Amino acid sequence: MKAEKFTLVRHFDGYPKTTDFKLESEELPPLKDGEVLCEAEFLSVDPYMRPYTMSMTPPFTMIGGQVAKVVESRNAKYPAGSYVIGQLGWRSRIVVLPATPGPDKSSAAGLELLPDMGGLPHSYALGVCGMPGVSAYFGFLELCQPKEGETVVVTGAAGAVGSLVGQIAKIKGCRVIGFAGTDDKCAWLRELGYDVAINYKTCPDIDAALKEAAPKGVDCYFDNVGGMLSHRVRQQMNLFGRVSCCGAISSYNAKTGEGATVPVPEPAIVFKQLKIEGFIVRRWWHRKDEAISQMAAWVREGKIKVQEHVTEGFHKMPQAFIGMLKGDNTGKAIVKA
Ligand SMILES: NC(=O)c1ccc[n+]([C@@H]2O[C@H](COP(=O)([O-])OP(=O)(O)OC[C@H]3O[C@@H](n4cnc5c(N)ncnc54)[C@H](OP(=O)(O)O)[C@@H]3O)[C@@H](O)[C@H]2O)c1
Repeated sequence: MKAEKFTLVRHFDGYPKTTDFKLESEELPPLKDGEVLCEAEFLSVDPYMRPYTMSMTPPFTMIGGQVAKVVESRNAKYPAGSYVIGQLGWRSRIVVLPATPGPDKSSAAGLELLPDMGGLPHSYALGVCGMPGVSAYFGFLELCQPKEGETVVVTGAAGAVGSLVGQIAKIKGCRVIGFAGTDDKCAWLRELGYDVAINYKTCPDIDAALKEAAPKGVDCYFDNVGGMLSHRVRQQMNLFGRVSCCGAISSYNAKTGEGATVPVPEPAIVFKQLKIEGFIVRRWWHRKDEAISQMAAWVREGKIKVQEHVTEGFHKMPQAFIGMLKGDNTGKAIVKA
């Protein structure tokens, strides 16, 4: 059985380029006892792939999660015809021996049957009912501890995680302000229920726009981007404000030697007595079912709306990844194999 995979042949420098990847074919071995043959149905392209690969040594198969169909099986738990999710990399097909969850039940890197999403599309397991959804749910609710009537700011607001955080904040009765990179994204955020959406690329005065949008100041900030925009938001936080640091995409695509230039220490952190905490979603992986079933229920009830930015064709993985990093996507960026 033939399979295809994308190998990363050199480290990214600045924005990834299609020439950083090489499409290769391989012959898969016959199945041994316990193994399954998986065929990709949907693959995820995520921002973390840009910084994480910098600590790996090329050449290696690109990392990433996918929803796959089990097309052949010698494992009763994963029969042929079942659907699974796992960190299987940028591969069209793969033979795997499903990993047993470790003692901390953190089997995020292993293979699992698709969660019960109550009839929602399989691809949602890579978004609202997957890693981004769990990040939005726990990263926001646990670290920001939002209360009804509070003001919440979300950056990267029209992306996979951000679009969910804003909607969760509305469910919790908050005033929600989002920053995104195009007018169309901002219009979509208003459709989702965001009270104010600001285009951070064209807004002539971010400070004034935020002051107008958040006249009572900012209580919670869900930070997807870092950098100067986050610096500006933190200036308008209220006493005992909470910041959940989810990502720092504004610096992921820096060229080697280029660093972020944000002023620190910031008096706002001290005088407003802010609580600023970073997280990696793996922290709550043992509780992921709680987040997934709640997110799925909110989607089915119409309280959370989902949009996907779908690129057709496994061969377009690099283009989909690069496009997502440049902001092509509204909602979750995925590839349909
Ligand atoms: N801590 C965790 O466990 C965890 C888990 C999941 C995700 N994350 C992080 O959460 C963030 C969002 O991830 P996601 O999967 O939801 O991706 P996403 O928001 O769907 O896609 C990335 C978006 O980032 C925005 N962007 C690109 N360059 C930017 C810049 N210089 N400044 C501001 N925005 C920029 C673009 O939107 P615009 O058009 O609006 O610029 C782009 O659409 C990332 O930083 C990611 O690393 C962390």
